[in-house]
Amino acid sequence: MDIFPTFHKLLGRSDREALLKQKGIVIWMTGLSASGKTTLAIGLEKVLHEKGHLCYVLDGDNVRTGINSNLGFSEDCRKENIRRIAEVSKLFVQCGVITINSFVSPTNDLRDLAKSIIGPDDFKLVYVNTPIEVCEQRDSKGLYAKARRGEIKDFTGINAPFDTPISPDLEIKTDKRTFEENLKALVEYVEPRIKP
Ligand code: ADX
Repeated sequence: MDIFPTFHKLLGRSDREALLKQKGIVIWMTGLSASGKTTLAIGLEKVLHEKGHLCYVLDGDNVRTGINSNLGFSEDCRKENIRRIAEVSKLFVQCGVITINSFVSPTNDLRDLAKSIIGPDDFKLVYVNTPIEVCEQRDSKGLYAKARRGEIKDFTGINAPFDTPISPDLEIKTDKRTFEENLKALVEYVEPRIKP
């Protein structure tokens, strides 16, 4: 292929991190649909933004209307979904951005794929652990009801798998503590890791 990468001529990650006075990182939130991932991600972004940090939230419902609009929920599509998101996140980290990802990412293989693309040092896995009964009761998007009626196939937790994450960097049990307590724990976990 006649491709000549120019990375060596460009400014580096450390130049951008110095400009932003922060370290780029990916906070990767995994959990069932309606587990509260995105609400926590948005909360985290708001707190860090107010403290002067540049963050960006990537979330399944948004990414799937844009860059991944051609992907569904088969095993292959989910893999391609996560692969692209991980590659995009890697670019964000090179920009020094605190990248907060909120994706079901239902299997350990998918989480490992993301980690290997992003690099283990820049990838922190946060398991938003909400029992499926609670997610289903919330059913903010009405998707669990649809899945139960057989109108959605391959719906995570109902007729598609969700692996319990193996040794996540942080686990948040949303049914055991308030949102404020969980957000505080998340902020306390992230803050020391974004120090330049
Ligand atoms: S992932 O499995 O590929 O990581 P992603 O996080 O991008 O999923 O998208 C999940 C969101 O898509 C859910 O929050 C839900 O709103 C919606 N969705 C639609 N169909 C499905 C399905 N079959 N399984 C899971 N989520 C679905």
